[in-house]
Amino acid sequence: MWRRERRPPLVLLLLLAAAAAAAMVMSAQLEVGFYRLTCPVAEDLVLAEMRLILMEDATLAPSLLRMHYHDCFVQGCDGSIMLRSRKKGKAERDALPNRSLRGYDAIERIKARLETVCPLTVSCADIIAMAARDAVYLSDGPWYDVETGRRDGNLTVAEYVDNDLPPPDSNIVDVKTFFSVKSLNSKDIAVLFGCHSIGTSHCGPIQKRLYNFTGNMDQDPSLDPAYAAQLKKLCPPPRPGGAGGEGKVKVPLDPGSNYTFDLSYYRHVLATGGLFQSDGSLLQDPVTKGYVEKVASASSPDEYYADFAAAMLKMGRTDVLVGDLGEIRPTCGIFVD
Ligand code: HEM
Repeated sequence: MWRRERRPPLVLLLLLAAAAAAAMVMSAQLEVGFYRLTCPVAEDLVLAEMRLILMEDATLAPSLLRMHYHDCFVQGCDGSIMLRSRKKGKAERDALPNRSLRGYDAIERIKARLETVCPLTVSCADIIAMAARDAVYLSDGPWYDVETGRRDGNLTVAEYVDNDLPPPDSNIVDVKTFFSVKSLNSKDIAVLFGCHSIGTSHCGPIQKRLYNFTGNMDQDPSLDPAYAAQLKKLCPPPRPGGAGGEGKVKVPLDPGSNYTFDLSYYRHVLATGGLFQSDGSLLQDPVTKGYVEKVASASSPDEYYADFAAAMLKMGRTDVLVGDLGEIRPTCGIFVD
């Protein structure tokens, strides 16, 4: 006797398949301790190597923190900042804002060590995220649990850098626009700008603020005059037709404590207007200004450090490749194909 098979209709099967696929994507997320089974030594090895790297050159701590921000803002935290230019096109790392970025060799050195113990397991994007956390910690800043599980992208386009990274002469409206595209709000901006508690800048990014703010050879009136005078001694006006004051001179982002991750950046911004116009822009908005004032007068760093950890995790989730997406390369800078 013929029996009618009770098969679910095709539409239902397709819906179920779509739901299963969605569940797989949802379950492939960043997590603390992603390498606990596949490469248990990963985080310890990165920290140990970072200690050695910073013993050799302490100025790499801020550079490696900055690298995580530049990686995440351009096409997501996918390690593409490490890829080298090739005939097919100019890479992110050769775009103007990244020319002052240092630490590429340090990331390659950590990657090479990881490849000897756990081949093709730990992504470059995760190494950058761990190195940024360790850079903060080894600069007397807070320790936080970093999320891992990112995979690496293999697309790098120099032009994207200018589209995605706000320039140093940004006002608060510009900054909010660039950061909101990455789902980061006003509080996140105020918190993440605390990264400028460590490190230095060339003269180029402040020349306009010091010497030609509105195009009339004037100085930014929101910059404290005494601080401006100090900066002008370090950074003389660019010579006509010169390189725009890039040169070798480096100016501290947070004078007096530029290799210690602490709250003094906020006191510096409040007192002087900060080094870049974008630092000073924090004082142009009630939310960011309120945050600067709160941290500048805090008696303990604990609340700021908790905010910092949360904001770094949030930034570290920007457009990540997880699960089956992306790749794990043997070297960070060289394309596999
Ligand atoms: C509107 C946002 C931002 C602007 C316009 C900006 C701009 C800059 C510029 C122009 C420099 C100096 C580069 C040089 O000449 O060597 C710099 C350095 C630095 N930035 Fe930012 N930045 C921003 C946000 C951030 C964020 C969110 C972080 C961290 C998550 C960060 C971390 C750093 C660090 C640590 C340095 C020092 C680098 C070194 O000493 O090598 N920045 N930034």
